[in-house]
Amino acid sequence: MTDPTAMKAWTCHRYGGPEFLTLQNVPAPVLKPDEVLIRVRATTVSSGDTRVRALRLPRGLGPFGRLFLGFLGPRQPILGTEVSGLVAAVGGRVSSFRAGDPVVAFLDAKMGGHAQYAAIKETGLIVGKPANQSFEAAASLCFGGMTARDYIRKAALKTGEMLLVIGASGAVGSAFVQLARQMGVHVTAVTSTANVERVRALGANIIIDYTKENFSNVGQSWDVIADTVAASSFRHCLPVLREGGRYLSIAGDLADMLTGNRGSKRSISGPAKSRLEDLLELRRFAESGDYKPLIDSVYDFEEMREAHTRTDTGRKRGSVVVRIADD
Ligand SMILES: NC(=O)c1ccc[n+]([C@@H]2O[C@H](COP(=O)([O-])OP(=O)(O)OC[C@H]3O[C@@H](n4cnc5c(N)ncnc54)[C@H](OP(=O)(O)O)[C@@H]3O)[C@@H](O)[C@H]2O)c1
Repeated sequence: MTDPTAMKAWTCHRYGGPEFLTLQNVPAPVLKPDEVLIRVRATTVSSGDTRVRALRLPRGLGPFGRLFLGFLGPRQPILGTEVSGLVAAVGGRVSSFRAGDPVVAFLDAKMGGHAQYAAIKETGLIVGKPANQSFEAAASLCFGGMTARDYIRKAALKTGEMLLVIGASGAVGSAFVQLARQMGVHVTAVTSTANVERVRALGANIIIDYTKENFSNVGQSWDVIADTVAASSFRHCLPVLREGGRYLSIAGDLADMLTGNRGSKRSISGPAKSRLEDLLELRRFAESGDYKPLIDSVYDFEEMREAHTRTDTGRKRGSVVVRIADD
């Protein structure tokens, strides 16, 4: 593979709906000496991508959005937080990857994954692709998995504890259920009727169908409540949170971020931190079969707008994947 000068990429120069996305020929990333250039084979359209595209931020965070992301449109016009693919070229100082290596990378908030090529530092969030995973599955490892891993750490979730996951069929929720079960945590999952069997297959011990029952009325209490979809609040969960309990406001708004603790019960919120050690663990779990990213649907690169439309519904189950064919 040669180091390219041009590539196709989906760009977003104005905030709005999927119709604001354009497929363009743009310059390929110019490789720095400490970087790896990836020929992207699969990426995802995450809830993070559609939030940026539409400037749809949790309540109270809107005023900061344009400051951080860009005034009229995203400063980084190429969205896409996670990719899998083959190393196309490496910079002169790179020693741990070679052209042709299959890899997974989490570009995170820097984005740039909705393109034929993406560059990342050798010391960044990049690892070899799990050998037993397709490019599509490997591209879905990070967004939900890295968020769940960081919140599991922040909550100091322990073996034997009781966990409630609200939004268990989403990208973050489905990773949370699997990673917690893998640790020997007892998981109650909240989902809707259509997703009950999918969530059971992820390993949840108890499932609450929110169209039929409210988790706060089932006579149960939990050590940790992971609210992945802002469907509840710390205040609402206090009666069903055990002493020393932690409420994880993963999709919370500014008010959640400013909420103080109540006695021994804590509210935890804010952006997840991404660490290489978590990506290495996710790869290990994927290889051992303990973590299988849930895939909602797979689109071709030309169908990027349709992929955004699917994520915009708020009903996707796991990840919406976009594959990028070889030329
Ligand atoms: N703090 C951070 O750093 C961080 C990192 C990543 C993501 N996030 C945020 O976390 C949120 C979730 O992300 P995601 O990618 O997992 O979202 P997602 O995949 O788009 O979530 C969709 C799923 O949520 C379920 N859902 C929707 N409303 C629900 C409700 N009231 N109760 C239970 N389930 C419900 C839907 O299932 P049904 O159709 O069955 O309702 C659907 O399967 C987003 O707001 C995202 O911005 C935050």
